[in-house]
Amino acid sequence: MAQDHKKLFIKTWGCQMNVYDSHRMVDILSPLGYKMVETPDDADMIILNTCHIREKATEKVFSELGRLKPLKEKKTQQGSKALLAVAGCVAQAEGEFIMERAPYVDMVFGPQTYQDLPEMVAKAIGAYGNARIVNTELTTDNKFDSLPEESHDQGVSAFLSVQEGCDKFCTFCVVPYTRGSEYSRPVAQIMEEARRMISNGVREINFLGQNVNAYHGLDKDGKVWGLGRLIRELAELDGLDRIRYTTSHPRDMDDDLIKAHGEVDKLMPFLHLPVQSGSDRILKLMNRKHTADDYRRIIDKLRTAQPDLALSSDFIVGFPGETEEDHAATLKLVEDIGYTSCYSFKYSPRPGTPGANMGGMVREDIKTRRLQELQALLNEQQQAFNENTIGMTLPVLLDRKGSREGQMHGRSPYMQSVHITANERLYGQIVEVKVEKAFANSVSGSLITQDGKILTAA
Ligand code: SAH
Ligand code: SF4
Ligand code: F3S
Repeated sequence: MAQDHKKLFIKTWGCQMNVYDSHRMVDILSPLGYKMVETPDDADMIILNTCHIREKATEKVFSELGRLKPLKEKKTQQGSKALLAVAGCVAQAEGEFIMERAPYVDMVFGPQTYQDLPEMVAKAIGAYGNARIVNTELTTDNKFDSLPEESHDQGVSAFLSVQEGCDKFCTFCVVPYTRGSEYSRPVAQIMEEARRMISNGVREINFLGQNVNAYHGLDKDGKVWGLGRLIRELAELDGLDRIRYTTSHPRDMDDDLIKAHGEVDKLMPFLHLPVQSGSDRILKLMNRKHTADDYRRIIDKLRTAQPDLALSSDFIVGFPGETEEDHAATLKLVEDIGYTSCYSFKYSPRPGTPGANMGGMVREDIKTRRLQELQALLNEQQQAFNENTIGMTLPVLLDRKGSREGQMHGRSPYMQSVHITANERLYGQIVEVKVEKAFANSVSGSLITQDGKILTAA
């Protein structure tokens, strides 16, 4: 009965891991009668799943909480209770502080505690008294053991978390502190989840982890598998067409994984491999533990294994001590490698990380200028890559409706966004598209039939 459902609203910031976790929270709360709604207006429970990676993260959470406070008060006046919760990486980093500064918040809980949600909710709604909950436990032991089956629609392309946490401690990054140490899920658990996903209609699985290629999970005989082996196993599953993984660290790019790029047909020719900087001096200060040439060598090996590989990366400009020469080395690396799409950021000092206490902070206007220079180059490369695909016929997995009427959106093997005029009934199909136009962030084209005819024009 619809009226028995409790309304759950979740707002998600940050990386794919947070998106994945939000889905998990829905799955965990669904047996308690919670159903997702589109707006927080009349919700019985509001969860802010937060990100702490760059500046103003905490301020954003407090201003969002300020906006939500009247909704909670309205609910109280109506004689019921709306639970207000902060989850994710800001919750982990700022736990008690949030409770103090926003006394109307009922629950603050970190990324490794979601399996305890039913118990936390019971305490907070008053089953054992109106407790306010702070849970920032960081052990990962049972996070995945006690998860219920997925109750949300996963679409045709979905993430599957195989690894969490990070032991790398790059000096700019909060993730090792907010997510805890590296943990790999056992092989059997991952394969079981993959089979379920495929039977629910998923055709593309994207293995997810903070350092996904650091994966070192156990098989049923207690042997350790790397990511390459896991990808080969996944590729055996019928009904699955495409495999991807994200996000990788250069140091964990082992030979078996590199070889898989040339050997596993289902593994798509696209890789996000963040390098952050092209200067060895800055890479050392960042504690990345590799040089720019190490990275170049890895890319060479990957391109030898799979010449058709499209590449993407993350960059930080204005790390403490970065000179014009260091910046030029980054631009040089970008020119040498040639990327198809990238993320780039101004360095933002994060409290509690070593970078925040380093000398040589770079002035804001200099960071802005360096970011503009870098982004101009990256945009140029992305546009050129998209233009190069004009005239090619690419297999495109249609994963959602396009923004315009009669239009569908899909992804090429290279992760490009593709728009075509097509019937909605083709949702979930891999169709052949002849690329005709290129834009900064996408391409468009025509649907091709099996005998090569153009079905619909762009
Ligand atoms: N685990 C991944 C990425 C984690 S965070 C990796 O190792 O690459 C995603 C990106 O945010 C990073 O790659 C980095 O480019 C950026 N980032 C992280 N901390 C940052 C900071 N303090 N300031 C600016 N950008 C940052
Ligand atoms: Fe952060 Fe570095 Fe770990 Fe990536 S590898 S999550 S950037 S500490
Ligand atoms: Fe943000 Fe936490 Fe992801 S800090 S980027 S949500 S791991």
